Amino acid sequence: MAGACPPELAVAVAETGGMGGAGVLQFAPLRIAEWVEQFRAGSSGALQLNIWIPEPPVADPDERERRVAEAREFLGRFGTPDDAPGPPPPAFDAQCEAMLAARPTVISSIMGVFEPDFVRRLHEQGIAWFACATTLDDALTAQEAGADAIVAQGMEAGGHRGSFDQEAAERTDVGLFALLPRFADHLQVPIIAAGGIADGRGVAAALALGASAVQVGTALLRCPETGTSKEWAASLDGLAPEATVATRAYSGRLARAAPTPYVRAWTEPGAPRPAPFPDQLRLVGQLRRGEPDGMDEVNHWAGQSAALATEEPAGEVVARMWRDASGLLA
Ligand SMILES: Cc1cc2nc3c(=O)[nH]c(=O)nc-3n(C[C@H](O)[C@H](O)[C@H](O)COP(=O)(O)O)c2cc1C
Repeated sequence: MAGACPPELAVAVAETGGMGGAGVLQFAPLRIAEWVEQFRAGSSGALQLNIWIPEPPVADPDERERRVAEAREFLGRFGTPDDAPGPPPPAFDAQCEAMLAARPTVISSIMGVFEPDFVRRLHEQGIAWFACATTLDDALTAQEAGADAIVAQGMEAGGHRGSFDQEAAERTDVGLFALLPRFADHLQVPIIAAGGIADGRGVAAALALGASAVQVGTALLRCPETGTSKEWAASLDGLAPEATVATRAYSGRLARAAPTPYVRAWTEPGAPRPAPFPDQLRLVGQLRRGEPDGMDEVNHWAGQSAALATEEPAGEVVARMWRDASGLLA
């Protein structure tokens, strides 16, 4: 979970028999190395490093400019942006080299596939590649490109949707119960279920439907190791599945979040469409820098099973999920 993955959380998960993970999207190469060092100081367990695949910019520059101007004006109601150019995002290629150098158990991708040369190199080093997919077409593309396992992400999931074609994300919102049997019937590689799994019942159901493992996000967001802000943790407490919102308001890409005033504002009649990715992300970053105290609801990611997230330590959450699932499967 990019932005919600301190080494302490990964250590707690790995030490309980799971696979710890880091979303390195915003990490510079040096930070990737440091993070892995911190993880290894606490655990010799399995480790996954994850990154978003970059996409080509949106086609029509005039349309893009118009939408950026509209979004910028609308964002003015939340405060005054700091228009100074912020730090540039870390370079994807350098991040990939840093992930290889760190020799994790798994390197995983979302929103596309790696180049063949990178896949060859990670395999030569004995690292497995897990690729996130939200449709069978995308899963087959990833399998063909050499993915060793597919993360089947249902539309229940918190955070960003892993669609390869981001423009199609709303039209291809398949729930995990439909996605898993479809993947199981057509893929040769193992499947990892993600989306709305937050207790032993979800784990057991996913395994019964054809998954070999599960990937959990939202259920760990209230754990003490995660370091989620007080406001974010409170917005998850008792949050109904139907109250979560799939929104492009944070980054220009579709992501599931809690219904904060910020998110709701973008659904009001007359609100513009958010700017395309990555412009919306940049605009929100500028606003956040300009209003560091007033924008605490950016970004309250939440999956549809948020109400099942507890404040237990992460190791206890993972142990309970597996214990309860084992009981149900027996
Ligand atoms: C705060 C947060 C950040 C996330 N960041 C990433 C990410 O960087 N890369 C990724 O592949 N998935 C990311 N995800 C999605 C998760 O990998 C997973 O698909 C999702 O959490 C599963 O659904 P659940 O939240 O209902 O458990 C994120 C999810 C959350 C909640």
